Amino acid sequence: MKDSNPSTEPIGQNLIKLISNLCFSVFVFSVLIITVIAITYQPPDPWLESAPALTKLFTESENATFQNDNSILKTGEDLTLGKAESPASGPVGFSITEEVIEKTEERIANLTPKSDSGCDESRVLNCSDPRVLLAVEKFNLRVFKSIVFLDYQTPLNGSKEEECDVSWRFRNKKEKSWRKYRDFRRFRFGVGENCTYKVVHAGGWHSGINARRSRSRISNATKGRPSSPKIAPPVQDEEINDTIPSLGSEMNFRKGKYLYYSRGGDYCKGMNHYLWSLLCGLGEAMYLNRTFVMDLNMCLAATYNPSNKDEEGKDFRYYFDFEHLKEVASIVEEDVFLRGWKKWDRSHKRKLPVRKVVSHKMTPMQLKKDKNTVIWRQFDAPEPENYWYRVCEGQAANYIQRPWHAIWKSKRLMNIVSEISGNLDWDFDAVHVVRGEKAQNKELWPHLNSDTSPEAILAKLKEIIQPWRNLYIATNEPFYNYFDKLRSQYKVHLLDDYKELWGNKSEWYNETMILNNGRPVEFDGYMRVEVDTEVLYRAKTRVETFYNLTKDCKDGINTC
Ligand SMILES: *[C@@H]1O[C@H](CO)[C@@H](O)[C@H](O)[C@H]1NC(C)=O
Ligand SMILES: *[C@@H]1O[C@H](CO)[C@@H](O)[C@H](O)[C@H]1NC(C)=O
Ligand SMILES: *[C@@H]1O[C@H](CO)[C@@H](O)[C@H](O)[C@H]1NC(C)=O
Ligand SMILES: *[C@@H]1O[C@H](CO)[C@@H](O)[C@H](O)[C@H]1NC(C)=O
Ligand SMILES: *[C@@H]1O[C@H](CO)[C@@H](O)[C@H](O)[C@H]1NC(C)=O
Ligand SMILES: *[C@@H]1O[C@H](CO)[C@@H](O)[C@H](O)[C@H]1NC(C)=O
Ligand SMILES: *[C@@H]1O[C@H](CO)[C@@H](O)[C@H](O)[C@H]1NC(C)=O
Ligand SMILES: *[C@@H]1O[C@H](CO)[C@@H](O)[C@H](O)[C@H]1NC(C)=O
Ligand SMILES: *[C@@H]1O[C@H](CO)[C@@H](O)[C@H](O)[C@H]1NC(C)=O
Ligand SMILES: *[C@@H]1O[C@H](CO)[C@@H](O)[C@H](O)[C@H]1NC(C)=O
Repeated sequence: MKDSNPSTEPIGQNLIKLISNLCFSVFVFSVLIITVIAITYQPPDPWLESAPALTKLFTESENATFQNDNSILKTGEDLTLGKAESPASGPVGFSITEEVIEKTEERIANLTPKSDSGCDESRVLNCSDPRVLLAVEKFNLRVFKSIVFLDYQTPLNGSKEEECDVSWRFRNKKEKSWRKYRDFRRFRFGVGENCTYKVVHAGGWHSGINARRSRSRISNATKGRPSSPKIAPPVQDEEINDTIPSLGSEMNFRKGKYLYYSRGGDYCKGMNHYLWSLLCGLGEAMYLNRTFVMDLNMCLAATYNPSNKDEEGKDFRYYFDFEHLKEVASIVEEDVFLRGWKKWDRSHKRKLPVRKVVSHKMTPMQLKKDKNTVIWRQFDAPEPENYWYRVCEGQAANYIQRPWHAIWKSKRLMNIVSEISGNLDWDFDAVHVVRGEKAQNKELWPHLNSDTSPEAILAKLKEIIQPWRNLYIATNEPFYNYFDKLRSQYKVHLLDDYKELWGNKSEWYNETMILNNGRPVEFDGYMRVEVDTEVLYRAKTRVETFYNLTKDCKDGINTC
């Protein structure tokens, strides 16, 4: 966009300008169309159908600087449009809907002997009575619209006579993955019409402590549902299984074909850069039908570290769902692979056939016919020639599709996300406030700093969000009290309000420590961004910094 003032220029000149602009637009548009066609005619790849992924494809061009928004991290569970993917096995998409409840109601009605006098109003509440569960199912369906309820367990006694604790597993409709989370709440019941119960009070997130972890008790009501032939007992979904798979037999190793990227200039770069590069490697491996050799070691860039230094020795599994990755992509962990390779070379006369590739200019298409067991891409050139993602530039971009669907956020972090949004009963609004370096850079973002001042935010939010709503603020502003002004109008929640979720008494702390050989893992900036992103996406009303709070462009002046 030019900043010219048409009224001061002669009409002819304007006309020429207009025409040339128009021609250029047509040109750009046709290039875009051709690109879209070229891409959509590649071998089918489900994620490409999703518009956000396409947008990402176009916006993160070859020369992506990765200076763009570091306070948000989109991954597969945010991108896939439409229905959530189903797991390869197990209960496929079964959830407790109104129809299911009606069917159960009918069944119960048929079971109970028909009599008009039937109901004893003074009866003692029996938590295992299927009508209790029905009341809860109906209540949940009415109250938590953004939740898909997957299975319930038979309610257990609460702390008082008229109370029961109920546990269930759920998905959030906003998360495009099949992963399941658990909630258990305490309910108080009253007597409804026709021998039914009704919920008169529902406790908050994880309040039904008697029902916590009683996996073996599967509700008979759920088991016997007529419309659910495929329902399987809940697997231990909360036992996250992201162990590193071993190679199997030597012969198996030899039969495989591998794509090995040695460490490049991407190491210790920002997270967008990391993902963009990793997905290029994974995409090439898929294109070549090879197993990708995966380095689980990560180096966290200084910007995400409280210490403000690059930190090595981080584990991929702190941030991403390795279990999902190994299910959907063919991968082998680097150390396992190298050990297998060494062992083979030591014990056999003929060494493993290897093709070394030293330049990213060698395209994936040229390697398609290569029969060597290992294709070893080396990235020893000086920056920026040593970035993994350069393999996917140019022509290659038409052949390689980044498998965004393979990257989900760590389930351990997602449990924190569920905890936070569950605590707010999934009924909250959120504002994303980008500050940090961008707010200080007046050249590229002239108004950002003032537009994200507490006063300006408050004035803007008043137009959009009702007073006293729960307001979650996802932000890279480090100063906790910065948003205090908003507390005069809203119930403000910041990530740091939930410190105990990763504190040394938390499940997360225990679980990540196991990955780290028994040493505690620091909750770092990268994790904060992931949790912030997902809580933000679960909000009912979402206010963004760019185009909602400020008119500055996301990627700097004149980029929108
Ligand atoms: C990338 O940068 C190079 C040199 O800086 C430039 O020639 C090229 O046009 C750029 N490509 C895109 C897609 O922006
Ligand atoms: C509660 O209801 C269940 C199922 O209807 C029944 O098996 C059980 O005996 C009842 N318990 C009591 C104490 O009434
Ligand atoms: C639940 O409470 C009922 C009465 O309130 C009692 O009869 C029953 O034994 C209790 N069940 C358990 C498992 O404690
Ligand atoms: C109670 O039963 C009557 C007759 O069967 C029916 O008309 C009415 O809708 C029922 N009420 C509820 C709340 O189900
Ligand atoms: C649930 O069903 C099993 C058989 O499928 C039965 O043995 C058990 O008693 C039932 N439990 C309840 C609470 O109805
Ligand atoms: C975890 O997954 C691996 C495959 O990646 C499998 O071999 C192993 O049995 C699983 N462990 C458990 C406890 O399910
Ligand atoms: C991919 O490789 C596997 C085994 O390495 C083979 O069975 C399969 O046919 C290959 N697929 C294609 C499309 O080349
Ligand atoms: C947990 O953290 C608190 C405060 O940071 C500290 O006082 C306590 O000793 C820690 N406990 C353990 C078991 O590390
Ligand atoms: C974490 O581990 C410690 C020691 O193993 C245990 O006492 C504690 O209950 C665990 N905390 C959680 C939340 O699992
Ligand atoms: C934020 O801006 C976008 C684009 O202008 C608009 O579509 C959206 O409705 C705005 N959101 C709110 C909450 O006002």
